[in-house]
Amino acid sequence: MKWSRKHLLDIQSLSAEEIVAVLDTARSFKAVGERSIKKVPALRGKTVVNLFIEPSTRTRISFELAAQRLSADVINFTAEASSLKKGETLKDTARTLEALNADIIIVRHSATGAPHFLSRFLGASVINAGDGAHEHPTQALLDVFTIRERKGRIQGLNVTILGDILYSRVARSGIWALTKLGAHVTLCGPSTLVPKTFEQFGCRVTHDVEEAIRDADIINLLRIQHERQRRSMFPSIGEYISLFGLNKARMASAKPDALIMHPGPINRGVEIDSSLADGDRSLILEQVTNGLAVRMAVLFLVNGGGSLQSE
Ligand code: CP
Repeated sequence: MKWSRKHLLDIQSLSAEEIVAVLDTARSFKAVGERSIKKVPALRGKTVVNLFIEPSTRTRISFELAAQRLSADVINFTAEASSLKKGETLKDTARTLEALNADIIIVRHSATGAPHFLSRFLGASVINAGDGAHEHPTQALLDVFTIRERKGRIQGLNVTILGDILYSRVARSGIWALTKLGAHVTLCGPSTLVPKTFEQFGCRVTHDVEEAIRDADIINLLRIQHERQRRSMFPSIGEYISLFGLNKARMASAKPDALIMHPGPINRGVEIDSSLADGDRSLILEQVTNGLAVRMAVLFLVNGGGSLQSE
């Protein structure tokens, strides 16, 4: 097993071997989750803090449940009800949490680099749960875990990421993880949201959705990140739906075994037709389920690993 990191800050700095180490550990934790007793004592006596300064449903809840399944004590920090509102800095907030013996701090923040900044002075392990438009490493890990489980491999697969790439931390982490593991990545969306500069990351860029999905094994859809866009990036939602929305007609031209993914939250009827989101080729809820095992693996590994014995 190749993992000796104290923090998980991004996918960019991980090797393919480290990514595979997380995926293999997550497979063991998925098996633990299928037992009658789903808890292991790996993090007993440790304190895990969810420091989320931006909204989240999936990531926050699955990190909370993952830490509980590992027998840790869990604190959910609520920004709106905290002294951040009185002007306390992120650094002082994190130091306060560490003074309460936090061992692992999971950070979501609108500012790129916030988790990297905290990792420079905290004794606790820091896990990036999404920093601005930069990276969302555990989302990429659960995505490649899901693809590997369904397709049996990553190497050589054609993966299309369709939507708002420019403002997407999921896209950036996904591109790093997929290319490191040998997938062929195609990016598609409006030219304002999918600039050709992304080709430097080893991806193909196209603005033709039919071309993007024709040979895809996986179609990973992304939401339009209105909250990060400083101006309108396309004329109207209606035009976006007609040019880039995934619907039944478009899906009919995809390979018969092509599967649909989405990190969530989804905007039904915009990037994806409701019938496809709920259809049998959609992995959306499977991704959520796998997120629990992957986050257990990440918490376990940054804490130094050890045994997976049940209580
Ligand atoms: N995919 C994802 O990060 O979802 P949340 O914002 O709900 O955590």
